[in-house]
Amino acid sequence: MTGAPVSTFSKGLEEVVATESSICSIDGKGLRLRYRGYDIHELVQRSSYDEVVYLLLRGELPTAVQLTELRRRLAAERPLPPAVSRFIETLPAGTNPMAVLRTVVSYMALQDPESESKAPDANERKALRLIARLPTVVAAYDRLRNGKRPVEAAADAETGTAACFLRMLKGAESRELEVKALDQYLVLLAEHDLNASTFAARTTASTTSDIYSAVTSAIGALKGDLHGSANTRSMEMILEVGSPEKAEAYVTSALDRKEKLMGFGHRVYKGQDPRADDLRRMAKDLIREVPEQAKWYAISEAIERAVKEKKNLSCNVDFYSASVLYSIGIPVDLFTPMFAVSRIAGWTAHILEQYANNRLLRPVSAYLGPSPRAYVPIQNR
Ligand code: COA
Repeated sequence: MTGAPVSTFSKGLEEVVATESSICSIDGKGLRLRYRGYDIHELVQRSSYDEVVYLLLRGELPTAVQLTELRRRLAAERPLPPAVSRFIETLPAGTNPMAVLRTVVSYMALQDPESESKAPDANERKALRLIARLPTVVAAYDRLRNGKRPVEAAADAETGTAACFLRMLKGAESRELEVKALDQYLVLLAEHDLNASTFAARTTASTTSDIYSAVTSAIGALKGDLHGSANTRSMEMILEVGSPEKAEAYVTSALDRKEKLMGFGHRVYKGQDPRADDLRRMAKDLIREVPEQAKWYAISEAIERAVKEKKNLSCNVDFYSASVLYSIGIPVDLFTPMFAVSRIAGWTAHILEQYANNRLLRPVSAYLGPSPRAYVPIQNR
């Protein structure tokens, strides 16, 4: 055994309280999610993503004046430094977009004169810079890989993050319902306590490493199928199933093979993920305007029914995120980068909170290796 006392062990750190935080509370049994005390269902109906960014970073909802000032700052930070734009142009078109995002965020540190500053006001500026620029990076990469020039970021303080992102991605105005749905998606995904990527971000920040390093760690963690890539994998499954009638057989066969169905199950919620209810409703609203998308919604419902019947599992945030993002016209392999475009608000709020009251995050393992033994010189092995 190591010298450190092993008091409790929980595989996967399940139910381990690893830090204190004032940002987000989750009631896994009551199926409630709150950002700084506000219920997620109320925030999604009544607030914009930009207001939620302010809430997460500053602890309070903004006044109208504070929101305008935040939007002005986001608009000013959105354009990428020329060296970052040139760097994105050099990236191979077939690269996994999450690998692109991870690499570009790391590179962005090299182009930020404040990247190594530990001053709290510099850290808050860097947080806003990252929140503003992640959408620009994702949209620019997608346009470049499709042989199109990136669209300049809106410079006005009226355009919110969702509308601005869709303009940069598509090079045209989107329908009002699409902008609203994306804005609501960004609100729902913005924060979720110590999920794997946020924990990765806080762990890196707890070494007093810089904010770009912490966000790069988070993006790497989000990239996995068990976390952020479940939305892309869910859509791939929906497309593969192809029609509602085939859903039950697909689910049965996947469960027989002991496969995990993407977009189902949750470590914390012992029942329906509350965000899934909002996303299901949004997916339904979107198909009213675009009936040709109705098929994907019908397949999603059929899969959801079959998984409930056969395994008594509820869907999580990623399952109906897939239908929502697909209906808005986001390419399937950009679904996980869209998760990052939203979650950057939560990540940076946690990183700033970690810096403000830091203690190195350093757990111990329960050692299962050989007992102490004598060293054998190489010629005697
Ligand atoms: N598909 C099929 N079975 C699942 C499942 C899924 N998506 N999620 C959980 N289960 C089953 C497990 O096989 C296990 O069944 P068993 O008791 O018969 O062995 C039981 O439910 C408990 O699951 P477990 O793997 O211990 O839960 P966890 O807390 O470790 O995992 C997730 C949580 C999210 C990693 C898991 O549900 C999963 O892999 N989901 C798919 C990926 C996903 O959607 N991720 C996004 C999360 S927001």
